[in-house]
Amino acid sequence: MTGPDAASAALTAALATAFTGVFGREPEGVWHAPGRVNLIGEHTDYNDGFVLPFALSLGVSVAAARRDDGVIEVRSLQAESTRAQTHVTASVDGGPVVSEGWPSDHAWAAYPVGVARVLREHGTGGASLLIDSDLPQGAGLSSSAALECATALALCDLHGVGIDRPALARLAQRAENEQVGVPCGLMDQSASLLCTPGHALMLDCRSGLSSQVPFAPAGSGLTLLVVDTRASHALTGGEYGRRRAECEEAASLLGVDALRDVKDLAGALGTLRDPVLRRRVQHVVTENHRVEAAVGLLRAGAVPELGAMLNASHLSLRDQFEVSWPEADTTVDAALRAGARGGRMVGGGFGGSVIVLAPADRADRVRDAIAAAYDERGWTPPEFLEAVPSGGGRRVTPA
Ligand code: GLA
Repeated sequence: MTGPDAASAALTAALATAFTGVFGREPEGVWHAPGRVNLIGEHTDYNDGFVLPFALSLGVSVAAARRDDGVIEVRSLQAESTRAQTHVTASVDGGPVVSEGWPSDHAWAAYPVGVARVLREHGTGGASLLIDSDLPQGAGLSSSAALECATALALCDLHGVGIDRPALARLAQRAENEQVGVPCGLMDQSASLLCTPGHALMLDCRSGLSSQVPFAPAGSGLTLLVVDTRASHALTGGEYGRRRAECEEAASLLGVDALRDVKDLAGALGTLRDPVLRRRVQHVVTENHRVEAAVGLLRAGAVPELGAMLNASHLSLRDQFEVSWPEADTTVDAALRAGARGGRMVGGGFGGSVIVLAPADRADRVRDAIAAAYDERGWTPPEFLEAVPSGGGRRVTPA
């Protein structure tokens, strides 16, 4: 075994050993769920629209053993480095974590505890969990969804509860909405559970139906770079919820269930008086079309042409949806000037990561140009990772 597999086997073994040290017994297994990058389809999921994410190889691992006393006990190796509370114990029975007024240094634990409380209704129970992650946090790569999904897979296996993956994704989303109090859509949890290696996931967020779309940039001489702009983001901030509310208001004024149902964009823009709502609708409607166009391009093997879609998506997120941030705009500009085919911000916005599609033989030049642009502005240097479309969550051991 070489490369990433060997690395993850070493991490898994280390996590299992650490579990024994912490809890004084062996774990029953180790589960892993990945973070994601969304290729295109941003702020469309909660408008019942389309998204096209793929899973990263990086993610969250959970070593776990069942408990039969209704207690969920979570420890995080990551929390140590952030000086958060490393050890949280809670009952799997109880109302929303968000209403219990936990101190802020317990915040990370609301995700696994919230999942345990939601899954409790479906027959799971308590567990001891030791959590580790190799995903950068706050980078907009869905470390929260990865934590929810790894926990959900572990609890279902430990308690012998079978829930199909699309349904499990909705339950993990529900945990984030109701238990943690973050009004996210369905994309991140679906990506973390449903993606397959070498593919992006075309998800219809209304029906929940999905299909696997081949996506192998290297096969077309391209590299997909993920640039962590180091401007940290948090969905718990008010802007995400405000965008959601604006979309709901526009849908209600237009007399449709969700903005996905707007078929006549010009007519809708003519009906709405508020320029802010017009801009939001313009983004959501055109972004849904861009997802469908991107899927068509990928299925046709026209991967380089995806660049134009990424650029159009970024401009729309910047100018119509108004969720971009200076580091993201500078990253895209610098990448395009250095010969990239396209780039755009990913995730909720106001911080996090950018993706850049570049010819493989120009990837170094593109990276250098981005780093130089940050340096000129005196910003914290960005982090780069090469994104390889990977598989969704799984039990790692015992296999
Ligand atoms: C965050 C949310 C997702 C989605 C994106 C924007 O990542 O968790 O549900 O709304 O923002 O596309």
